[in-house]
Amino acid sequence: MWWRDAVIYQIYIRSFADSDGDGIGDLEGIRSRLPYLRDLRVDAIWITPFYPSPMADGGYDVADYRDVHPLFGSLDEFDALLRDAHAAGIRVIVDLVPNHTSDRHAWFTEALAAPRGSAARDRYIFRDGRGDMGVEPPNDWGSTFGGPAWTRTADGQWYLHLFAPGQPDLNWVNTEVREEFESILRFWFDRGVDGFRIDVAHGLIKDPALPDLGEEKEAILEPTRRVDHPHWDRDEIHDVYRAWRKVSDSYDGDRVFVGEAWVASPERLVRYLRPGELHTAFNFDFLKAEWGCQTMRDVIQRCLDAVGSVGAPATWVLSNHDVVRHVTRYGGGEVGSRRARATALLMLALPGSAYVYQGDELGLWEVEDLPEDVLADPVWERSGHTDRGRDGCRVPLPWSGDTPTFGFGPDGSLPWLPPPAQWRGLSVEAQHGDPASALELYRSALRIRREHPALGAGALRWLSAPDDVLMFERDPGFACAVNFADRPAHIRPPGTLLLSSSPLPEGLLPVASAAWFATGRSRSAPEAASIPS
Ligand code: GLC
Repeated sequence: MWWRDAVIYQIYIRSFADSDGDGIGDLEGIRSRLPYLRDLRVDAIWITPFYPSPMADGGYDVADYRDVHPLFGSLDEFDALLRDAHAAGIRVIVDLVPNHTSDRHAWFTEALAAPRGSAARDRYIFRDGRGDMGVEPPNDWGSTFGGPAWTRTADGQWYLHLFAPGQPDLNWVNTEVREEFESILRFWFDRGVDGFRIDVAHGLIKDPALPDLGEEKEAILEPTRRVDHPHWDRDEIHDVYRAWRKVSDSYDGDRVFVGEAWVASPERLVRYLRPGELHTAFNFDFLKAEWGCQTMRDVIQRCLDAVGSVGAPATWVLSNHDVVRHVTRYGGGEVGSRRARATALLMLALPGSAYVYQGDELGLWEVEDLPEDVLADPVWERSGHTDRGRDGCRVPLPWSGDTPTFGFGPDGSLPWLPPPAQWRGLSVEAQHGDPASALELYRSALRIRREHPALGAGALRWLSAPDDVLMFERDPGFACAVNFADRPAHIRPPGTLLLSSSPLPEGLLPVASAAWFATGRSRSAPEAASIPS
């Protein structure tokens, strides 16, 4: 089961590599960079949506689930990418968006043209409004991107959209909706994909009473807030995933689901990972944790306990296309970069699988000063220009050179969001071969992770360590130490140094640093079992 300890690289397709010079990344761009990904030694890639879409939300508004947007390529190009990725030993996970379609999806067009109460409208959540002539929305729910979660249609009915108005929510109580998505799963599984990342996996089912949220109207947008939520993480959701698991299990080749479920606790999360449901789900508590010894240790332990209770692997992630990049979250600048490097070694030494978001391996930070006229995230408009949204973590990757495109596209082309000039020094080309670079740190870490028998699936054992130092052992023969203190820590190295996130003076672990050691001992393989010389 490759997915129990895989390192999976997230490709935000718009911003990874542009083959045709239109400023937007595409499938051919990914294909041309497969050697880079193979040399980085990732086991799989997850590609964000590349389907036909009016791009109300960067492609998370899908108009046709069985095709490729011409901006990104064609189905033939997808097949070519899949074939070449597999030949390079890289599996491919695609993104499935089941909570909502685009408002340009054929079903929604049909629903708008159909009368109230029709079968076409029942695939979505249409309701009459309240108040005189139904001019008020059916309830007080807000959209995650700001503004109300309801939009009125020409005939006066309202439809629900937990995200942008261009993303009408599907009605998952409707059998046709369920059948359609099982058929979409088969369409891509038949083409040979290795799995699906499930968008908003916690959102599909709504309380049929659609109750007002009252005072909790704002707070409730935060899915992690409470358990008995009218539109997040409802118990009925699990039926959907039990049916999907039957579909994935009917294919050979160890196909996998990874759920994007923002829920109240690890204990709620692992309900999605019970036998017969999803294989994996992102552990966002780790991503949300502040940089600190006890905080991180608690989050790690609680997650391991929770996944252990259902026999699922932990799935670690530090950044993705929806959150502020962790270099910036951890304080930015020199401090943020040091902490990010240390946390990468921490994450990659933990039991389970791990996701690397494109650019993590280059030490990219959040671009906080993008000009307003390039901002494309719907959050910017929907928030009335009070929240700049998520574009700062979606800036195209710097590959090489010093033209403004930094090798993202052909020379002379301009990326859809401008990379900062300082990223010239962070390009793949600039970091290649520099042992002090983030890229070489990731390359070394992923090489060791692939070779060392202790890394990947398994268990960990905490070791006693000085204050603010986290230290643990993995069998056989591996230990990791992370210094969270604001001064160097004196440690007795538990073995020979394999790798460290910053140079290691004798007996000291510098501020915001992590190190990996080969300990040459193992509890599961005690000395007595070692081969006599
Ligand atoms: C998920 C995606 C995010 C998108 C939202 C609505 O959270 O990761 O980018 O905006 O779903 O589809």
